[in-house]
Amino acid sequence: MPLNILGTLLVKGTDGIPGWEYIRSFGPLVITTISLKYYFGGVKNTWERDLHGKVYLVTGGTAGLGRSVVEELAKRGAQLILLTSTTPEENPWLVDYIDDLRNDTENILIYTEKCDLSSLYSIRKFATSWLDNTPPRRLDGVICLAGESIPIGFPRQVSIDGVERQIAINYLGHFHLLTLLSPALRVQPPDRDVQILMTTCFTQAMGDIDLNDPLWLNKRYPSKNPWRIFGSSKLMLLMFAKEFQKKIEQQPRKDNLPHNVRINIINPGIMRSPSTRRIISFGAVWGLFLYLILYPIWFIFLKSCTQGAQSYLHVLQNPKFQELKGGNLISDCKIYNTARNEPNDEEMCKQLYDKTNKMIDELEKKSAIERKKLSTKKEKESISSKNNKKDKMPLFPEKKPEKKPDSTATTNTSTTSTKPSSGSTRKRNSKK
Ligand SMILES: NC(=O)c1ccc[n+]([C@@H]2O[C@H](COP(=O)([O-])OP(=O)(O)OC[C@H]3O[C@@H](n4cnc5c(N)ncnc54)[C@H](OP(=O)(O)O)[C@@H]3O)[C@@H](O)[C@H]2O)c1
Repeated sequence: MPLNILGTLLVKGTDGIPGWEYIRSFGPLVITTISLKYYFGGVKNTWERDLHGKVYLVTGGTAGLGRSVVEELAKRGAQLILLTSTTPEENPWLVDYIDDLRNDTENILIYTEKCDLSSLYSIRKFATSWLDNTPPRRLDGVICLAGESIPIGFPRQVSIDGVERQIAINYLGHFHLLTLLSPALRVQPPDRDVQILMTTCFTQAMGDIDLNDPLWLNKRYPSKNPWRIFGSSKLMLLMFAKEFQKKIEQQPRKDNLPHNVRINIINPGIMRSPSTRRIISFGAVWGLFLYLILYPIWFIFLKSCTQGAQSYLHVLQNPKFQELKGGNLISDCKIYNTARNEPNDEEMCKQLYDKTNKMIDELEKKSAIERKKLSTKKEKESISSKNNKKDKMPLFPEKKPEKKPDSTATTNTSTTSTKPSSGSTRKRNSKK
């Protein structure tokens, strides 16, 4: 077929090719569109590694980028524990999701554990139960994909501990989870390469670092440019990754062998994920219509989540990353320098780490007091409601007037609590 076309082109010229007018008009546009789509799709990972036997903890594995990463790892045989904000009992959709994932990837080793990143208590509960295992459980890595992004114009939203949600989930939650799990990471045998992958975003270049108030507890919420606070959460995550890597290396292993825990930070690029849809559509229904109308633009210029997942697969499968030191920023399967200077400022990273640690302690104490108050209040309420019930229960139930059907109806409703006694009488009578 192409030879026929070429032959016709040589013998008869372009006029001999059917539909040449259309090809001439639309051809350049189609070629440009395909080239743009190819360019913005990013680099594809070319490394393959059998992941059977490896165990990974994954945050944010239920949607968008996380879903793609989880699918790819499960196909290669890895055992995955998805840390989710709800339990399957609270959220039956989770059961279907895991079932589908197991069937599609032919891997039954996919589980969920509750670890709500917006609650320091929930994170501590999960991490403690993980650390409680003796002998320590195998852990080949923690892949941090969970994230929260609030669209423009929305008011400040806070976590259970009273911290702005984007900072709480993107930065504080992952900070708390990884620092608590660090004994489980350090204890892994020296021949195992333990990878911690964190997720950043280009908006980190717009973030602010304020060491006096890193969690934005006292600063005004920038509802007109929420990417400032989102960017700050990602920039702080990057600084945490650098400092955490240093802390792990500073503490010698018991066997005095070199450290095998590496922390890398990945920028997946902009993807057509649920969070991007929420941001572009301003979190509104009319915005969603606009998003759908402009979908061809997103389709060309934004990555699919599978394309966004390539750098994660690259780091986990390329043997180069088993030898390199951690603390790298990776995008499109390549190592980049950070756009900001703060992550390279060791003193600033340390100060931020120490300050955050201190603030977590304070927040946990505050939340524990709140929980205690709430449980005492609930206990008191349940005791008083029990007492009320007892008070209302007549010692000698009044006899029902026999000949007035109307009054029987009212007594029936007003003496519900006495029903069991009449029931028991009936039972005794029937026994007789
Ligand atoms: N989308 C982009 O273009 C883009 C660009 C650069 C970086 N990123 C980063 O890539 C990551 C994934 O982005 P995405 O667009 O795929 O996000 P997404 O579709 O909104 O998914 C977010 C994931 O985080 C989980 N999550 C949210 N709150 C949680 C909580 N309190 N506890 C536990 N899990 C929680 C969600 O699970 P549930 O909903 O089940 O709780 C969900 O699985 C994020 O870190 C994001 O910042 C995204």
